[in-house]
Amino acid sequence: MEKMELAEQKLRKYHQEHILPFLQNSNEQKKEELIDQILQMDIEEIMHLYEQALQPIQYQNTTIEPVVSKNKETLSVEEKKTYTKLGEEVIKRGEYAVATMAGGQGTRLGCHGPKGKFKLDVGENGKYLFEILAENLILANNKYETVIPWYIMTSKENNQETVDFFMEQNYFGYPKEKITFFTQGELPLISKEGKLFIGEDGKIKEASDGNGGIFTSLKKHHLLEKMEKEGTKWIFIGGVDNVLLQMADPMIIGLTIAQNNSIGAKSTKKAYPSEKVGVYCKKNGKPAIIEYTEFPGNMAEAVNDNGELLFGDSNIMCNLFHINCLKKIAEKKLPYHKAFKKANYLEENGNLVEVTEPNAFKFESFMFDSFDLVDNISILCDKREENFAPVKNAEGKDSPETAKKLYEAYWNKKCECEQNRA
Ligand code: UTP
Repeated sequence: MEKMELAEQKLRKYHQEHILPFLQNSNEQKKEELIDQILQMDIEEIMHLYEQALQPIQYQNTTIEPVVSKNKETLSVEEKKTYTKLGEEVIKRGEYAVATMAGGQGTRLGCHGPKGKFKLDVGENGKYLFEILAENLILANNKYETVIPWYIMTSKENNQETVDFFMEQNYFGYPKEKITFFTQGELPLISKEGKLFIGEDGKIKEASDGNGGIFTSLKKHHLLEKMEKEGTKWIFIGGVDNVLLQMADPMIIGLTIAQNNSIGAKSTKKAYPSEKVGVYCKKNGKPAIIEYTEFPGNMAEAVNDNGELLFGDSNIMCNLFHINCLKKIAEKKLPYHKAFKKANYLEENGNLVEVTEPNAFKFESFMFDSFDLVDNISILCDKREENFAPVKNAEGKDSPETAKKLYEAYWNKKCECEQNRA
């Protein structure tokens, strides 16, 4: 049967007949692209996710318990030494790699193109988010006399622009051969009525499948094999938009090894009980993140005998995985979470509809849903002002303005300390 016929049949099967006119009216090249997209797309899966999205959320009987973390500030000198030494050895032996999740859309920040191209107004000429990450890694490379392999996950949408940008910027001085770009997966958007959208490019509108897509994407691009071949044992995974992200902290590596775990995490203490952040906990006995919206009753305010919050370890997207654990996670299908977003689209007559209100379900998997593969994870709580300065919103909380202040305060303090030491 002709490809065209197969595509039409598939659209009819899932009640997507509104797409048929685009198959008829597009030019040959666009038609070909649309047909291929339809044939490759798992429409069955998206319809299943859509059906689920319409169901009211079922709160299962979940037990939520606190987890025990180690606070860097209260570790003994001996503990600090032991963990640091263990971690430093891993980095120096070349067993450490870093992956940056840069496939997000940065919608809250309102940026177009890769978020890592956003320039923060710091230093003489400002610094790009990617540049800040590169500088952070270069410092670690110099300190440990190694070159840490750097994996950068992009989206299909921003991949080319990211790769070109690194080239234009001469890779920010990072050894080019140690940087690997890879794209993450996508899922189609779908309307409240269960209809796929045609975007301005004449193709079905898709969007990145969430930061949890990193595991299967690493596998799909054979990067787990590459890591193994190169002797990588521990992989740090972090976001692109925290300008104080510590990407090579030996202490969390050492702590995770010493506690015999295969996942590690760095956290910072919640600023106040109602802060809108996800925190580490145990859900039904397994390590997890509980979002601020999910806390039953006044659990978010609960304190221990010392008056400390029982659920006070914020998720700052700063995680470490053993390669064997990554391999297992990559085999697993993480659940999808729904979001409702704005999506412009073409009507059957080709007119563009620019929406002002959300109209599309978007499905994303989250990295932290992988934690339930293990019984325990190691959590190292560190100072917020040295680890967390996210650029999320255009203004107000977690904005370029707040990140700039935190970034400058951190580096001024560090310089002062170094001068005093000298
Ligand atoms: P966020 O959801 O906080 O950032 O992702 P975002 O997607 O860039 O911004 P909004 O929500 O549209 O405003 C946290 C981290 O996960 C990455 C982001 O790039 C960021 O580093 N991410 C997110 C991906 O790599 N892929 C995704 O599909 C989603």
